[in-house]
Amino acid sequence: MTMLRAERVTLGYGRRAVVHDVTLDITEGGVGLIGESGSGKTTLARAFLGLLTPMSGNIWYGDQTLKKADLRKFRKDVQPVFQAEALDPRMRIGTSIAEGLPRSARSRVGELLEQVGLDPDLAARRPHQLSGGQRQRVVIARALAVGPRLLILDEPTSALDVTVQARILDLLASLDTERLLITHNLAVVERLCRTSHVLFAGRVVESGPTADLLAAPAHPYTKALRDAVPRLGGAPPEARGRTEAVPAPSGCPYRLRCPLAAPECERPPALRDLGGRQAACHRAEEVLT
Ligand SMILES: Nc1ncnc2c1ncn2[C@@H]1O[C@H](COP(=O)(O)OP(=O)(O)OP(=O)(O)O)[C@@H](O)[C@H]1O
Ligand code: SF4
Ligand SMILES: [Mg+2]
Repeated sequence: MTMLRAERVTLGYGRRAVVHDVTLDITEGGVGLIGESGSGKTTLARAFLGLLTPMSGNIWYGDQTLKKADLRKFRKDVQPVFQAEALDPRMRIGTSIAEGLPRSARSRVGELLEQVGLDPDLAARRPHQLSGGQRQRVVIARALAVGPRLLILDEPTSALDVTVQARILDLLASLDTERLLITHNLAVVERLCRTSHVLFAGRVVESGPTADLLAAPAHPYTKALRDAVPRLGGAPPEARGRTEAVPAPSGCPYRLRCPLAAPECERPPALRDLGGRQAACHRAEEVLT
């Protein structure tokens, strides 16, 4: 079942488009969105949360576009999980979590803290009196307060050290809430997302079952990300030290970095079906073998 769907969306700021013609379904089993810094992941997440209106295309929520949807229901169904730094430093943890609850349900704060593996007594503390991992759990508890069906998680563990990260991922895996997970860390999608989409410079370059993408990438960029990845933790060298993915001005956007670039790559490749997955590369068959 598809809960949210981006249909041919182009997104940007002012007149500058940074996400181009993306079609993407949020389906069961977790969906991963992978790409280096500046590839448009957070921009897409904002559009899925209804915080950014597409320049063209639509976001579908069930059988309605977000523009026409019942926003109260939507806000209850779809919750963002922010970075822990977004917690109000002056507010007690319990108050932060209770904000999302109706008055009658405020006694559930302790229960929610327990659900994310925290001692209910932490409700009386303020964010600076918690560890980074505990703060991230609080952010998750806060998102869970309204009983959402879908969590949109933007780099939920990137600020944490490796062992703490792993435990937060265990927690996320144990929740029966659907998720869109944004990350540059392939080890994370491997665990939490049945399907993944790889973004390069605002375009989907490969989509498919995560296990297939990792076992046998069809796009050279997916392959580079996979081969460069350290296990849990840290940015892949592909992403490290770059502030922005610079696309080629014409033809295949990846061609300036692609080891397989050929004259045919001066024509832009369309996303095409390769049996169970899609990739935007003229030479995908060669990459696959
Ligand atoms: N509020 C904004 N105003 C103008 N441009 C923006 C804004 N937010 C993002 N951008 C630009 O849009 C592009 C995509 O940014 P986005 O934040 O979606 O990338 P990202 O994939 O989430 O990167 P990161 O991994 O660093 O979080 C970048 O070129 C960025 O500079
Ligand atoms: S189309 Fe060409 S340049 Fe682009 S990823 Fe494929 S081989 Fe590389
Ligand atoms: Mg981002």
